[in-house]
Amino acid sequence: MASGSTLIVDANPDSREGLARIVREAGYPVLTAGSGSEGLALLTTLRPQVVLVDMDLPGVDACDLIHQMRLEVTDVILLALSSLHDTTHVVRTMRAGASDFLPKPASATVVQTAVRTALARSEVSGSGELAAGGEGDRFWPDLELLFRNSERMRAVEDIVRRAADTNATILLQGESGTGKEMVAKAVHYISQRRDKPFLKVNCASLPGDLLESELFGHEKGSFTGAHRRKPGKFELAHRGTFLLDEIGEMPLGLQAKLLHVLQDGRFFRVGGSETIDTDVRLVAATNRDLAAVVAQGHFREDLYYRLNVVGISIPPLRERREEIPVLVDHFLRKFCRQYDREAPAVSVETLQLLQDYAWPGNVRELENRLKRAVIMAQGRRITPADLDLVSPYAKYGQQGLREAREALEKDLITQALAKNKGNITRTAAELGVSRPTLHELVARYGIER
Ligand SMILES: Nc1ncnc2c1ncn2[C@@H]1O[C@H](COP(=O)(O)OP(=O)(O)O)[C@@H](O)[C@H]1O
Ligand SMILES: [Mg+2]
Repeated sequence: MASGSTLIVDANPDSREGLARIVREAGYPVLTAGSGSEGLALLTTLRPQVVLVDMDLPGVDACDLIHQMRLEVTDVILLALSSLHDTTHVVRTMRAGASDFLPKPASATVVQTAVRTALARSEVSGSGELAAGGEGDRFWPDLELLFRNSERMRAVEDIVRRAADTNATILLQGESGTGKEMVAKAVHYISQRRDKPFLKVNCASLPGDLLESELFGHEKGSFTGAHRRKPGKFELAHRGTFLLDEIGEMPLGLQAKLLHVLQDGRFFRVGGSETIDTDVRLVAATNRDLAAVVAQGHFREDLYYRLNVVGISIPPLRERREEIPVLVDHFLRKFCRQYDREAPAVSVETLQLLQDYAWPGNVRELENRLKRAVIMAQGRRITPADLDLVSPYAKYGQQGLREAREALEKDLITQALAKNKGNITRTAAELGVSRPTLHELVARYGIER
């Protein structure tokens, strides 16, 4: 999209045209949308630099729209025009992710100045720097939603707030989909580094040599295919926050280099001889038990201690079920907006099912199941079938109690054995039976070790 292009979202045709004329007169190309969903669609497809949202949109919560836009395009400038100017409303709008708040009625000069100032700021500020680096993430996490709906997450917030303005490295451990990345972004956002870049690299996504160049950059000609010098993420994240995701998968050789960088605050690009100083707050995340990976010899113990200055474990969703109703409500709104569907009703039975389910994929699974349900339900009431949740007991339902109990016993033993790599002593201890009993059960059910 052309530089300075501005999208105007306003349901009232007269004021929409009026705003369009004012912005055009200031010399910027203009797009217009008459509804929130149209605005969102234009934002994601045409990528204007500025969006001017009239908050008095009928039938939608404009703060939700702002938040959704912020999530979709993290570095867009969002200007909120509103006839409500009380503090609560302004705070809510800014928290949702607005870049600036303009009280209505706003004169032509006010609107033009706001657009011009916002554009100027975006050229020079953090987002401009990020744009130059080609990457980065401007993200306004909804701290309320992330931290305030369960005791367990309130405890996480407490640690995050205490650690945020130190430069201590943070190690986030938790199952996949629990929200580790969101917590990492919250750390960045809460800290003084919030206006600087937030970057991330997934250590499992690249083979070792490419990962090294991704982290530290390389000089031209340092290896086949290195046609020009490329800065690494450590360099680009200077003064910001850097998330090393799935740190447990980092090859040992690279772990040594990372340890040096953390100790010295400087490094060489691949094939380079110039030292580069970097000031980066590191957050590492893993869904593995990193201490166990250390014990297996696949992760350096010294690096483990260096990363685990502040260790935070993010509990699985099944240990903070009180968040489920709030999350369900949040995701339903989000997907109804995204697919322009009417908000479907959720029956008590369905909500109960959602509440009781084990959620092995945690919040990510909940999010995906609700997305599917919104699409399948087409605006009518959401049923358990739309969610495609299989009750963990379904497979035991077709038989008598005795057969069901045996089937369950067999499943549990098989799982525990696999987890303990066939070790009978450990499995017996975990299941609370003696070794002879376990041997007998393994034989009776014909379980392979
Ligand atoms: N508290 C929350 N509120 C809203 N969305 C959440 C929350 N926690 C996680 N999510 C969403 O769930 C998905 C998985 O979260 P993510 O942070 O990527 O998990 P992880 O890094 O632990 O695998 C993402 O789409 C994220 O936006
Ligand atoms: Mg993740």
